[in-house]
Amino acid sequence: MNYRRIIFLFGLIVLFSVGASAQDFKYIGASKCKMCHNKPDKGAQFAKWEASPHAKSMDALKGDEKTNATCLKCHSTAGSVDKGLLAGIKVEEGVSCESCHGPGSMYKTAAIMKNKQMALSKGMIDPTEETCKACHLGEKPAGHVAAKKAWNFAEFAKEIAHDDPTTN
Ligand code: HEC
Ligand code: HEC
Ligand code: HEC
Ligand code: HEC
Repeated sequence: MNYRRIIFLFGLIVLFSVGASAQDFKYIGASKCKMCHNKPDKGAQFAKWEASPHAKSMDALKGDEKTNATCLKCHSTAGSVDKGLLAGIKVEEGVSCESCHGPGSMYKTAAIMKNKQMALSKGMIDPTEETCKACHLGEKPAGHVAAKKAWNFAEFAKEIAHDDPTTN
């Protein structure tokens, strides 16, 4: 094998490993989380989310607004990310799990989920107040309805809480 060919093959390997990194974290949708995160004794996260304003955030949009990128940026997880990253999630599910917890395609397996450090390295995000502020205190279009209540992280977080009583 000549020298140029080795360089070429090496280049391909580098390209391949770069291509297989962060780009592969895709959005799979809440129904994929439901199969493991809806047990009543573990906090029924799916049911709590489904009853929350986030799961209904597309109902706030009328007609053309449902396809308006400016509105979708905050009213829909699927509508706010690159189309190439959609893997099963639907625009209609509104502000879904993965807006706060990160795209789940690579961390969704039980073995990875049980190991928090591993899950974080596979695209999981630990949500903080900053995660919420991107939408709640982000730039809203002119004429947007006023928030019913002033932003207060502790209070708002309590309203959407879905803790697992069996962990810490
Ligand atoms: C195959 C089952 C399975 C699927 C699918 C799954 N999870 Fe998990 N998840 C677990 C397990 C197991 C844990 C570890 C805690 C526990 O035992 O409940 C966990 C933990 C978590 C935690 C807590 C992490 C921490 O320690 O702070 C979050 C957040 C989470 N999952 C979100 C999600 C989201 C969002 C999805 C969908 C994109 C998802 N999970 C899909 C099984 C799953
Ligand atoms: C920067 C993020 C952001 C953008 C962009 C945005 N919204 Fe909102 N929207 C919110 C948040 C957050 C709320 C919840 C109320 C609040 O805190 O302002 C909300 C609430 C609403 C409500 C009230 C829903 C209810 O249940 O009372 C309507 C209606 C609405 N938005 C329409 C729109 C439309 C139409 C667009 C696009 C023209 C849009 N929004 C763009 C973040 C946004
Ligand atoms: C609007 C943001 C948001 C959405 C949407 C959301 N979560 Fe969470 N989730 C949080 C926050 C904040 C916490 C608390 C994190 C902490 O305590 O460190 C949390 C905690 C969790 C935990 C850990 C509970 C514990 O006590 O160990 C699990 C599991 C979880 N969420 C799963 C889900 C699933 C599944 C969905 C969708 C069906 C979802 N979440 C939707 C923000 C969100
Ligand atoms: C992707 C954007 C987005 C993120 C991230 C987000 N929210 Fe929201 N949130 C919304 C929208 C849009 C609404 C309005 C839904 C409706 O009423 O139609 C809303 C509504 C709410 C409401 C109901 C009260 C109200 O003002 O209408 C609470 C409480 C809330 N969010 C808490 C949180 C918390 C806590 C976090 C962070 C852990 C968070 N949200 C992250 C977009 C977001």
